[in-house]
Amino acid sequence: MNESGFRALESTDPDVADVIRREVERQNTTVQLIASENFTSPAVMAAQGSPLTNKYSEGYPGRRYYGGNQVVDEAEEMARERAKALFGAEHANVQPHSGANANMAVYLALLDPGDKVMGMRLDQGGHLTHGSPVNVSGRLYDFVAYGVDPDTETLDYDAIRDLARAERPKAIICGATAYPRAIDFEAFRSIADDCGALLIADAAHIAGLVAGGAHPSPVPYADVVTLTTHKTLRGPRAGAILCREEYAAAVDKAVFPGLQGGPLMHVVAAKAVAFREAAAPAFGEYAAGIVRNARALAAGLAAEGFRIVSGGTDNHLMLVDLRPFGVTGKVAQEALDAAGITCNKNAIPNDPEKPFVTSGLRLGTAAVTTAGMGEPEMAAVAALIARVLRAPDDTAVRSEVHDAVARLCSKFTPYPDLP
Ligand SMILES: Cc1ncc(COP(=O)(O)O)c(C=O)c1O
Repeated sequence: MNESGFRALESTDPDVADVIRREVERQNTTVQLIASENFTSPAVMAAQGSPLTNKYSEGYPGRRYYGGNQVVDEAEEMARERAKALFGAEHANVQPHSGANANMAVYLALLDPGDKVMGMRLDQGGHLTHGSPVNVSGRLYDFVAYGVDPDTETLDYDAIRDLARAERPKAIICGATAYPRAIDFEAFRSIADDCGALLIADAAHIAGLVAGGAHPSPVPYADVVTLTTHKTLRGPRAGAILCREEYAAAVDKAVFPGLQGGPLMHVVAAKAVAFREAAAPAFGEYAAGIVRNARALAAGLAAEGFRIVSGGTDNHLMLVDLRPFGVTGKVAQEALDAAGITCNKNAIPNDPEKPFVTSGLRLGTAAVTTAGMGEPEMAAVAALIARVLRAPDDTAVRSEVHDAVARLCSKFTPYPDLP
């Protein structure tokens, strides 16, 4: 979005323009700690806000159902080739509109309804699309859940192997939405081989860390890898699939015509931009910075008296057990929101509270790292969080912290040039 585009929007629709202006201001002036969010680049937004939105491109490059695709074909080809090169994959499908769609397309490609699949429990870090009964994945397939060890709060690969041997699933999906430790994809491969299962890795959260070399890659081990492009990868809000050549035709057919209609070509072009950005050497330093910041934030919070689930983090996120402070996740999220710190309540393993209340928070450092914050700022943010949560109902404290947050963010503004 540039200045002249925004002026045009203001005159056509001042109401939507006002929402955008206020949301940019919120992003610029408050601390964003939602682990699944990031600040994408102006280049990605330029592609995403381009007239490529006008083009219907059902099919794949060189095999489209409508005419006029010769130019946009190049964008999809670039996105595919860049994704393959970035992750070392044999095949890439860059059309999924989102991570959930990418997962559904993979199930459609590899499974039949009723097939048994093993996935991580939602309340221990798995994603809705890994078999939750309220999600279509849980309704169409026979999901069996694995979780974390109650003492270490980390994946117990021996227990997962025992379960896989007993259940003999057709596929195992690994990857998580709220798991702070490195995932051992080699161990999952060995478990899958042990019971003759396919291995699907959902790298939605860690895709940027993998691209930047800050987390082991699932690509050498998994048959199929799904990702989102908007979390640590810092691209447009969308999904993608990587796979071995032998699954390429089935995956492509499942995405289109199986699950989606025409791809969002403006978003596909924006994915190409993001893959190029992530291939630059600076992205490796950025990914390492995200992990350093997560460790610093976790250490700062532990020093304030919070319990960090599993004792720390290896990636971009942490789960904070709030029980030492006597507040629930719901209360904490609301109090922090009022103080200018955006995060989400999250169940911790074996959480005694209901999912809408929870005993924990999930905090991630991708967005603050993009904004330029480093370890000293993480220590300051940890202290501000503790200050709010020691007196969650105190409006004076909230307002003082809000002022401190605004002062901090004025030095780390993600979009200084946006209206
Ligand atoms: C592990 C995992 N998979 C899939 C998704 C779904 O992504 P989307 O919201 O783009 O559908 C998420 C989203 O947070 C996720 O964490």
